[in-house]
Amino acid sequence: MKYCGVINRYKKYLPVSKKTPIITINEGNTPLIFANKVSAVLGKKFRVYLKYEGLNPTGSFKDRGMTMAISKAVESKSAAVICASTGNTSASAAAFSARSDLKCIVVLPEGAIAMGKLAQAMIHNARVIAIKGNFDDALDIVKDISENYPVTMVNSINPYRIEGQKTASFEIADYFGDAPHFHSLPVGNAGNITAYWKGYKEYYSYRKISRLPQMLGFQASGAAPIVKGYPIKKPETIATAIRIGNPASWQKAIEAKEESEGLIGMVTDNQILAAYKFLAKEEGVFCEPASAASIAGLFKLNKSGYFSRVKGKEIIITCTLTGHGLKDPKIAISCIKPPPVVPAKTRAVVKAAGI
Ligand code: F0G
Repeated sequence: MKYCGVINRYKKYLPVSKKTPIITINEGNTPLIFANKVSAVLGKKFRVYLKYEGLNPTGSFKDRGMTMAISKAVESKSAAVICASTGNTSASAAAFSARSDLKCIVVLPEGAIAMGKLAQAMIHNARVIAIKGNFDDALDIVKDISENYPVTMVNSINPYRIEGQKTASFEIADYFGDAPHFHSLPVGNAGNITAYWKGYKEYYSYRKISRLPQMLGFQASGAAPIVKGYPIKKPETIATAIRIGNPASWQKAIEAKEESEGLIGMVTDNQILAAYKFLAKEEGVFCEPASAASIAGLFKLNKSGYFSRVKGKEIIITCTLTGHGLKDPKIAISCIKPPPVVPAKTRAVVKAAGI
């Protein structure tokens, strides 16, 4: 069957009608990759799968929500959309807007956006505005503007974003024929954990799955308001995608944690980078640093003995890798030594290659 994006595939479960113009770039349908070596770290009965959202058309999970938000904006005859972003939302909003002739305005924290993401927003012709403030400041401004001017906000406070993003849970459940036992993912503005949990709960209510997963969300320790229980004025982490001090869906994230009997934890930048390198070196999967928080969190929980209490023969854990590694090449390059430069001679190359 021909694949035409998440709305076409999951129309039945989404607030669309025959009148909704479907703006799609064939997002979704991303692979679930078995992570042999991550599983081995946890132990024999664990099977860890990576939901590689970096393979969406703009390189992140945001495309799932954006196809819905932009389709609904076009349906309601909106002329412009606006978002605050740590980068990926803006890249996605810009791309889907380009496809639908909407004007796209993005407000970003100056100097805190990975290069790939900034390049995307700009090449897709968004009106990009950098502010001398952080993501939380940008979100406040965007809320203010969308309440007072005729522009549609496409941050995850827009309920259509959550609707689109919940399709990732559907794909996972359809793949296994049931829910995983645990689902791990990074938490920034907390839209995605909200969406995944909504998706699993809906599938459960339609009896498409027989159980619900325990949701494991991870913040960066320098930007961990939900874990600490108060907003962080100056959030700091190398994982710029989740450098957020006052998440919009804070309460929904707590509900996902409590209802699923899961947890929201935090991981340090060093733990994030270690997981990021592990995935690249051992699994051949390149994600952005924020994405690796889901794996860093698993490793941390494993060390603390969290999984040793888990009963059952085979435990399936899915981890969302939210964005592609190429989004943030600077971080990758800063993690490795520059390559040796040798004379243009076979012998010199053979020697340097250690053959
Ligand atoms: N991972 C990546 C790569 C992200 O870009 C984001 C959020 C998250 C995780 C966290 O997801 O906010 O739903 O909890 N990026 C937003 C943006 C904030 O503007 O691109 P969340």
